Amino acid sequence: MYTITVIPGDGIGPEVMGATLDILKASDLEFDFQEARAGYACFEDTGTNLPDETVEMAKNSDATLFGAVTSVPEQKTVGSILALRKKLGLYANLRPVKSYPGVKAVYDDLDILIIRENSEGLYSEIEEYTEEGATALRVITRKASERISHVAFTEALKRGKKRVTAVHKANVLRKTDGVFRDSFWKVASEYNQMDDYRDIETDEFYVDAAAMFLVTDPYRFQVLVTTNLFGDILSDEGAGLVGGLGMAPSANIGDNNGLFEPVHGSAPDIAGKGVANPAAMILSACLMLNFLGEHQEAFKLEEALINVLEQGKYLTPDLGGTSTTEEMARAVREIFEK
Ligand code: NAD
Ligand code: IPM
Ligand code: MN
Repeated sequence: MYTITVIPGDGIGPEVMGATLDILKASDLEFDFQEARAGYACFEDTGTNLPDETVEMAKNSDATLFGAVTSVPEQKTVGSILALRKKLGLYANLRPVKSYPGVKAVYDDLDILIIRENSEGLYSEIEEYTEEGATALRVITRKASERISHVAFTEALKRGKKRVTAVHKANVLRKTDGVFRDSFWKVASEYNQMDDYRDIETDEFYVDAAAMFLVTDPYRFQVLVTTNLFGDILSDEGAGLVGGLGMAPSANIGDNNGLFEPVHGSAPDIAGKGVANPAAMILSACLMLNFLGEHQEAFKLEEALINVLEQGKYLTPDLGGTSTTEEMARAVREIFEK
């Protein structure tokens, strides 16, 4: 029995979460889903966008599923997902950019892993107003840079990848990204000595060039490791290459916890219409199953989704279909529970 904290959130969050839970409930595994609140509606009702109770539940469960939240206007409070990542120590954000059959995309054969440092950088939240405007502090530590570089190499080995690429802007951010780059090369030289890792190549790109090559020649990348904000931006770009935000899942991993969420937000433009693509949430559930060690169940769920995508009969509008979130999820469930 796995205890899973479920945070549906706002907008399409509850829609894709409901659809995904309906599928997971058809699993042979036993789950105890415990719902918790966070986000904008929670803020309006309770005065906080992240109740302590939610953090405690997430800390004490086997894993957390997070839908999406609408940000409360910047000056009022820190984003609930950012606070959760910090409070749970989720320092690694794994964001696969993977093509799926039947999905109209710029590339139909990509399988890249973007690894986003999840604890610092321009997300330090140290900002202040000055006479002229405002400043933000970009914090890059050796500890976090080395830690995320370790994740990049171990994930590369786990996934059979042959190249790890560091992405930074050390030509301008000479000190901060200098630390990030040096930390990466230090860790790379350690892995280079190890038998299992010897045939994994390493290289680096400035983020501007990386952004261009992701579009023109993404085959240069297998595992891409970068700082927090660059990873945020490049992962939406990556989603754009493989069918859009409705296809992009993510895993937030720390030493003691895992939180799994789509890369997309609450999508106010389509919220309430029942047409959000549930695939990113379903694939996030696959990442959770793998995290729990349930590899076979994860494989089965991904295969069920692939089957529905390939068939092309039950697709949401973003994928060129006319189905609702529920109809697409039901089709996945029917194959999954067979
Ligand atoms: P968004 O990801 O919500 O939406 C961007 C575009 O992608 C929209 O046109 C939307 O309709 C589309 N889209 C996103 N997910 C989709 C899906 N599953 N199926 C079909 N189409 C989908 O980004 P935004 O509009 O910039 O932000 C909206 C709100 O969400 C903001 O308040 C933002 O801060 C928040 N946000 C939250 C998270 C999170 O909870 N982790 C992530 C990103 C943005
Ligand atoms: C994401 C989102 C968040 C981020 C926002 C909502 C704070 O864009 O998960 O990619 O910037 O990390
Ligand atoms: Mn983002």
